[in-house]
Amino acid sequence: MRYSRKEMKIRVDYNNMMSAVLGRAHGITATDLENVAERADRAFNAVVAKSGIGMMGWTKLAAGQDDVVEDIIATAKQVRRDCEYFVVLGIGGSALGPIAAFRAIKHLHYNDLKKSKRRGPKFYVEDNVDPERMAALLDVIEPEKTIFNVITKSGSTSETMTQYLVINDILKKVLGDKAKDHIITTTSRTKGNLIKLSQKEGYKTFYIPDGVGGRFSELCPVGLLPAAVLGIDIRGLLAGAKFMQELCDNPNMKRNPALMSAALMYIAMTKYGKNISVMMPYADSLQYIADWYAQLWAESLGKNKTLDGKACNVGQTPVKALGVTDQHSQVQLYTEGPFDKVITFIGVDSYRTDVTIPGGCEEIPDVNFLSGHTMSELIKAEQKATEYAVTKAGKMNYTITLPVVNEFTLGQLLMLFMMETAYCGEMLNIDAFNQPGVEEGKNATYALLGRGGYEEKKQELDSAPAKQSKYII
Ligand code: PA5
Repeated sequence: MRYSRKEMKIRVDYNNMMSAVLGRAHGITATDLENVAERADRAFNAVVAKSGIGMMGWTKLAAGQDDVVEDIIATAKQVRRDCEYFVVLGIGGSALGPIAAFRAIKHLHYNDLKKSKRRGPKFYVEDNVDPERMAALLDVIEPEKTIFNVITKSGSTSETMTQYLVINDILKKVLGDKAKDHIITTTSRTKGNLIKLSQKEGYKTFYIPDGVGGRFSELCPVGLLPAAVLGIDIRGLLAGAKFMQELCDNPNMKRNPALMSAALMYIAMTKYGKNISVMMPYADSLQYIADWYAQLWAESLGKNKTLDGKACNVGQTPVKALGVTDQHSQVQLYTEGPFDKVITFIGVDSYRTDVTIPGGCEEIPDVNFLSGHTMSELIKAEQKATEYAVTKAGKMNYTITLPVVNEFTLGQLLMLFMMETAYCGEMLNIDAFNQPGVEEGKNATYALLGRGGYEEKKQELDSAPAKQSKYII
């Protein structure tokens, strides 16, 4: 499908970050922006220089995967024809992108639709190892009518490999030799155990390029295969991402939405002590974008060492919210609580459907005023009202608006946040693409469960101070 770049361009409005709106005590001044201009320039140039290299392979995904995309589309067509359920087994970056895209593009009650309306398999993502959740999944799917997509970059994550072992065992019991036809793997071509298993068992396999980390992987087969199976226009998704990359080719911060967003966040964090980044989409379809962003922002920027090896403790804690739902829980805090956060509102110009609020309460004017309006008018008014309230209270916020939620605008949004993260990492002078804190937890789990080679880690864990009963009530 073709999308008009002019009509479908997403917009970033940062008025409410600025002192011109918030006042000098709370807002970013023109001088603040001038003061970071050189740092932003350096970040821009570093991102250009590193593009496609090392762990920045994800910058090449939007335009460079024609053969892979064709293979994915052909495989997805077959899956859509042959199976009733499609289940992703994975966690973190191997799960959050597929969930976000599914929620954004497909019907909000997709799995509950009749098959004729759904026109694709039911979809589940098992991004945990809660045994109740696994049991619940097994209650609603039929393994012999299911394709399982096992996704793990490292090919060794305990959670994903556990999910795989459970499912593989069931498939083998039910289907014997045919079990392998029900598993598609997405993993590194060169590293880890899943590639070995894939080769041994003969699974259809898609590859995660070496330079693409988990949280930057939605635009490679990790996200593209599940999306294509769901009938999502993956070429449109990639075209949107490419469009955003082109916008980000501009070295002028005022013309480059990701660079400006990164600079504003950098100033907010380092000069104004905004340690929290709230993301609040005003669209249920974008709810899980906030989850995907939370991983991207937290895991990329939460670091304790600079690129030149100096100690630091940087990052912003992401908080997920949903408009208008969280107006009735968290917004009180955002408005009157501490000046410690930046709120990113995400709105849409046109909802894909609308509902007119009917009459029926003419005798009660305080209810009747709603009648005749549409629900989209109401949700947009509430977004505007919340933006107004937090701005009036002096709280930094900015708004990203999608003309409509579709593959092209979603692709732009994902790329906007990935580019912003890369720039912000450079501005903070940290490695945004590693995750030693996550690895530490993974290694501790291996040690606790007796994996060979982790004996020293086990000793380290065993010698940690024992819990004292006086602190347990
Ligand atoms: O962003 C990351 O690298 C991590 O959050 C991973 O996505 C997560 O730990 C899962 O790793 P893997 O895909 O190797 O199973």
